Amino acid sequence: MKAGEKNLLIFIAVVVGFMLVYRGYQEFTDPDPGIPFYTTASPELKREAEALYKRLKCSKCHALWMVRNMMANVPAPALDGIGSLRSEEWFYRYLSAENPQSILPSRLRPEYRMPSYAHLPEKERRLLAAYLASLKVEDWYLEETRKAEYEKLTGKPYVPKSDE
Ligand code: HEC
Repeated sequence: MKAGEKNLLIFIAVVVGFMLVYRGYQEFTDPDPGIPFYTTASPELKREAEALYKRLKCSKCHALWMVRNMMANVPAPALDGIGSLRSEEWFYRYLSAENPQSILPSRLRPEYRMPSYAHLPEKERRLLAAYLASLKVEDWYLEETRKAEYEKLTGKPYVPKSDE
């Protein structure tokens, strides 16, 4: 190997080494926070509720686990983290309402609004409510989730509440 080639190799090794150390340092000081959404549901609840969710085609309008039906362009709120915004009792009442818009007003045309699930057996409404309540978001993403939900629901920009 010629001296020039050797120097070039050493140079490359030093640059690559420096880049690796720098990346490691970046990850150390500013770790990727990852996905903020999680569920506290038992595997059984998750399995049963997700089968029901699929059968009832909730995903025609809602995003969950950040998956969205690409064909549907309905501006319904995403359900990721929704259990950190509302309670299981609230979900049960909402799903049981003959007119869900009496609980949560809609800004959408009737065909895009949240349908009533009052006709479902009580067991299924309870199952969905328990699952929705289990869809949590980490604290560091709570305010973002609240903002996205508010803006989807109202079509207006979100103004954080002051503490007074
Ligand atoms: C036809 C579209 C559509 C379908 C299907 C649908 N939703 Fe909705 N949903 C909406 C819309 C739109 C809203 C917002 C309120 C409104 O505009 O009526 C909403 C609101 C909600 C909310 C309240 C969200 C919040 O901001 O607090 C929950 C929870 C919810 N839906 C769960 C479900 C579940 C569970 C299913 C399936 C059983 C389902 N939805 C099926 C359109 C739909």
